[in-house]
Amino acid sequence: MKLILLGPPGAGKGTQAKTLVERLSVPQISTGDILRAAVKEGTPMGVKAKGFMDAGDLVPDEVVVGIVEERLQKEDCASGFILDGFPRTVPQADALSATLTTLGKELDSVISLEVDTEALVMRLAGRRTCKACGAGYHIEFEPPQKDGVCDKCGGELIQRDDDKEETIRNRMAVYLEQTLPLVDYYEKAGVLAQVDGMLPIDEVRAAIFEILQVSE
Ligand code: AP5
Ligand code: ZN
Repeated sequence: MKLILLGPPGAGKGTQAKTLVERLSVPQISTGDILRAAVKEGTPMGVKAKGFMDAGDLVPDEVVVGIVEERLQKEDCASGFILDGFPRTVPQADALSATLTTLGKELDSVISLEVDTEALVMRLAGRRTCKACGAGYHIEFEPPQKDGVCDKCGGELIQRDDDKEETIRNRMAVYLEQTLPLVDYYEKAGVLAQVDGMLPIDEVRAAIFEILQVSE
């Protein structure tokens, strides 16, 4: 399965990608996660990306396109992948299309998660991530059993640096200007499916499985 999850910040791309990975046995490729890991490790790419990410702006296309091109050639992508957070601009989508053609691959589906702006702000402001294992939570919608502690590994739950309200607003503006045109782009390509991302997490998951025509 070769899939893109499209949607604004906080739409639930990462949440849904993680459940799909288990069911479809293909890797999740999150450019956000890859960039955050590079920032944490202090690699040259991480140093370059940090300022853009902290401001809620997009990292330059050539950086992310390079990451994804390299990642898609790895062996674990042979039977498919779930792209989460990429592409985010028309040039990124064009570059992806060229890479897939070179690799002799074709997208099966682009799933766009539709969520209201105010709900997105609430989701991002309440999001917490495990520092140790990366598991995602929401203080209201998907709370851990014990405040601030990961159910899976006991790790500390932290808030992302770019989940502050002012940065969230800029991320939304950047999404509307640079990423929303991709909905049309993939609609024209005949691969777009839209899902109501306002539904509870389980129902969004069920809707995605229905589109992909796989059992849960
Ligand atoms: P990235 O990490 O990709 O962030 P994003 O797109 O802003 O998306 P998020 O991870 O914030 O949201 P999500 O849709 O995954 O939501 P989640 O499932 O966590 O990018 C970060 C930065 O990196 C960018 O700003 C940019 O600087 C850079 N970058 C990354 N990719 C790039 C690219 N291609 N080009 C250039 N720059 C790039 O859910 C959010 C919360 O809501 C969670 O707490 C969750 O529990 C909860 N939730 C999820 N679904 C539901 C539901 N149905 N109901 C209620 N709550 C829900
Ligand atoms: Zn954990």
